[in-house]
Amino acid sequence: MDKVLITGGTRGLGLAIARHLVERGYGVIIVGRSLSDEAAQWLQCEDKASFEPFDLTDIDQIHDFAQTISRRHGRLYGLVNNAALGLDGVLATMHESDIGQVLRVNIEAPILLTKYLLRPMLINQRGRVINITSIIGSTGFKGLSVYGASKAALHGFTRSLAREVGKAGITVNSVAPGYMETSMTQALQGDKLASIKRRSPLGKLADVDDVAQMVGFLMGPEAAMITGTEITVDGGSTA
Ligand SMILES: NC(=O)c1ccc[n+]([C@@H]2O[C@H](COP(=O)([O-])OP(=O)(O)OC[C@H]3O[C@@H](n4cnc5c(N)ncnc54)[C@H](OP(=O)(O)O)[C@@H]3O)[C@@H](O)[C@H]2O)c1
Repeated sequence: MDKVLITGGTRGLGLAIARHLVERGYGVIIVGRSLSDEAAQWLQCEDKASFEPFDLTDIDQIHDFAQTISRRHGRLYGLVNNAALGLDGVLATMHESDIGQVLRVNIEAPILLTKYLLRPMLINQRGRVINITSIIGSTGFKGLSVYGASKAALHGFTRSLAREVGKAGITVNSVAPGYMETSMTQALQGDKLASIKRRSPLGKLADVDDVAQMVGFLMGPEAAMITGTEITVDGGSTA
């Protein structure tokens, strides 16, 4: 059974991706700081999924964490870099420590984790890396300049890494969701949310399951010829 590690698989989009990949026959390892009740209940009745706690701000521990994963779970087939911090605030008043934390979790940690978990894929000469970016990386959004910068950087990483590892049978892609209702977007309500919904050509917004299906597709053999690209799942909001 091919195994896939999903960072931030403890809730929101990451948990939806984990559930979908299990339905498609993969074994999944979900990573986060702590389990949500929903994830804990799911794990209790799902023997193809396991939880490995890790705080991605512990940059110095990522190498050891990747080694522990390989020891416990063998060589992974796939990695989904999904965990991210969505701290908002206008740049002029944002604390330096918050800027550092967003950049650590959203860009430095995925780069390092990918570096170490790629090695077994290179040995196997097959694998998949999927980076969860955001439409904000290309559209921009007031109050999300640091988050937007981290997502644009993550897609830059996707493109160059795809060129590095393609000949080893590994594809690297980004999936850019639009607004989805999760704990990350709890604060975005009222007029702002109504205007996002109004702009969607389909009259509704994509949800976590719509995005998880795209990740499932990119993980599979049907997507063997797709690499170095970003696929947007936003109900057409950026059309
Ligand atoms: N929601 C949206 O509208 C939207 C739109 C575009 C893109 N996205 C992207 O979609 C992805 C998932 O977002 P979401 O909406 O599902 O967010 P979420 O509900 O806030 O979930 C974030 C996940 O990341 C994990 N995480 C956060 N900090 C971590 C850390 N220091 N170490 C380890 N894990 C950490 C959390 O787990 P723990 O709390 O257990 O650590 C949680 O599982 C993100 O990359 C986000 O940027 C979301």
